[in-house]
Amino acid sequence: MSDSAAKASTAQAAIAALLREHRTFPPPDSFRAQANVNDPQVYERAAKDPEAFWAGFASELEWFEPWQKVLEWNPPYAKWFIGGKLNASVNCIDRHLRTARRNKAAIIWEGEPGDERVLTYWDLYREVTKFANVLKQIGVQRGDRVVIYMPLVPEAAIAMLACARIGAAHSVVFGGFSAEALRERVNDCGAKVVVTADGGYRRGNIVQLKRATDEALEHCPTVQQVIVLNRAMDASQVPMVEGRDHWWHTLMEKAPMHCEPEVMDSEDLLFILYTSGSTGKPKGIAHTTGGYLTGVYATTKWIFDLKEEDVYWCTADVGWITGHSYAVYGPLANGATVLMYEGAPDYPDRDRFWALVEKYRVTVFYTAPTAIRAFMKWGTQYPQMHDLSSLRLLGSVGEPINPEAWMWYHVYIGGERCPIVDTWWQTETGHILITPLPGITTTKPGSATFPFPGIEAEVVNEQGEPVPLGGGGYLVIKKPWPGMLRTIWGDPERFVQQYWSRFPGVYFTGDGCKRDEDGYYWLLGRVDDVLNVSGHRISTMEVESALVDHPAVAEAAVIGKTHDIKGQAIAAFVILKEGYHPNKQMEDELKQHVAQKIGPIARPDDILFTAELPKTRSGKIMRRLLRDIAEGRALGDTTTLADPSVVAALRQQYEDSEG
Ligand code: WT7
Repeated sequence: MSDSAAKASTAQAAIAALLREHRTFPPPDSFRAQANVNDPQVYERAAKDPEAFWAGFASELEWFEPWQKVLEWNPPYAKWFIGGKLNASVNCIDRHLRTARRNKAAIIWEGEPGDERVLTYWDLYREVTKFANVLKQIGVQRGDRVVIYMPLVPEAAIAMLACARIGAAHSVVFGGFSAEALRERVNDCGAKVVVTADGGYRRGNIVQLKRATDEALEHCPTVQQVIVLNRAMDASQVPMVEGRDHWWHTLMEKAPMHCEPEVMDSEDLLFILYTSGSTGKPKGIAHTTGGYLTGVYATTKWIFDLKEEDVYWCTADVGWITGHSYAVYGPLANGATVLMYEGAPDYPDRDRFWALVEKYRVTVFYTAPTAIRAFMKWGTQYPQMHDLSSLRLLGSVGEPINPEAWMWYHVYIGGERCPIVDTWWQTETGHILITPLPGITTTKPGSATFPFPGIEAEVVNEQGEPVPLGGGGYLVIKKPWPGMLRTIWGDPERFVQQYWSRFPGVYFTGDGCKRDEDGYYWLLGRVDDVLNVSGHRISTMEVESALVDHPAVAEAAVIGKTHDIKGQAIAAFVILKEGYHPNKQMEDELKQHVAQKIGPIARPDDILFTAELPKTRSGKIMRRLLRDIAEGRALGDTTTLADPSVVAALRQQYEDSEG
């Protein structure tokens, strides 16, 4: 055995031993002593009067006019801080200019090729107000929608904040989504303007964002203007559409600084963000201003324990809710210094994240379990190449973190001294709802622990009755919280149907959950047809629609299959039409087709051609059996199948194909 292999196996044995001990991790005394919140009484106080609790945070923000009433709750409709007037960009920028934060770094950015930029709060003010004027000048008005389709560059945050400043709602579309996915979102929200870039860097390649935008906009009647950031290419080589396309830098040259912020009502729309549900059509989750900002401000302050001198790094792209709430609005509302990195964790090498932690002396680091599992697989030599002693707090988000990954994170990244906050929430919830508080909570590896103060959660059975401690069921949220979604854009019925109908009057999360004897929450993953691939939400129906869109495909059934690193991998069972032949070439073509229709994150890992799918007598595909087949488990109950021989044949075929 090589030296490093021996070391790794000793470390693994140590981790396994710790897990068998069911060890718990109280906050280190030194952390507790300095924490923004360390009094366990906060839970009781917040439970007794949640409205006063949230209003306390809201009053730390800046309002043009105070609210008259904290909450109006007509299930399922909530309004927070009624009558209050504010502007999100003022709270993320202007508020800090009157303090010593004026010249503090707001965004420290590093591009994948290694280019660097630092924007102070004053720089951010200048860029945001100028870009706000640019948007106005090309015709964007209060109440309009602007789609932002960009790489992870400071301009993405600048564009978001500029929209907020003039009262236009942004809808950020992740740069990894395809032209078609972009088109669908642009049309659904009826965007007037798209802000994009020529391209962005990913593992040394250039992602062709402008090309995808051009393709998308062939069928987007509402879009009048496009602003293009010159990020990755020779500008003279980028085709620009006369009268529609404008270079970011050209418009900015002439734009004046200062832009009066729009006075927004607390319940005015701040943004729409699309996420996958259990149908083929993504849902435009609508978030409003006052409640959302209060929620992200409060949770960032208490969960990430931000201090004036922190360097805070949330690795999420702004295309996801995590990027909205914890890379932009939450930390900037707290006046924090945010690190932003454009590229991949393994480019140019697998130590890139740790090199960045060392280079910028990152203190608070927030990432996803899928990344941690990849780091584990790559080996401890990569973090060990760097000085990670600046870190003081670690976070995890996106899917359940397995205890092994938690321990590895604790030992190799946190140096056994940093509390870990495993934070559960959703695009719909706007901010974190279940999480440890790092100065209070004793953590257990793999558990998101307890609801944030002021949040009332419960685990219920099929009938909606609370499950006693030790049992499992569905996670629901019983009382409104400030950052909750207000509706699904353009589909108010689906909002009611999706979240508030399963158990009337309470919010249905779609997640399974167990509580242990100590009351800790253990999230168990989705209970619907939503997959979680590398922390990204993908609907099985969306992938199925993409597959049947291919001329060769007659029928398709998609399931999630447990995967070491991704959490879930996509497996598709496909029936080809007459005259098409199942072979490697067809398999690659279909994978490519899905990647092109939705984006590379939705590319199936496995495609299995079959002549039939297991269906119930009423014609429903039995996905549970497909999962059993894909994961090599004993087949569950097959008595409701129309033709039980179908699964036996499928299983044989799957085993043969796995070799
Ligand atoms: C779904 C929401 C909101 C952050 C990014 C994902 C799963 C998220 C955890 C966690 C267990 C988690 C749930 C949830 N999830 N965080 N800490 N432990 N599961 O946002 O794309 O809206 O997905 O992610 O299944 O429903 P999203």
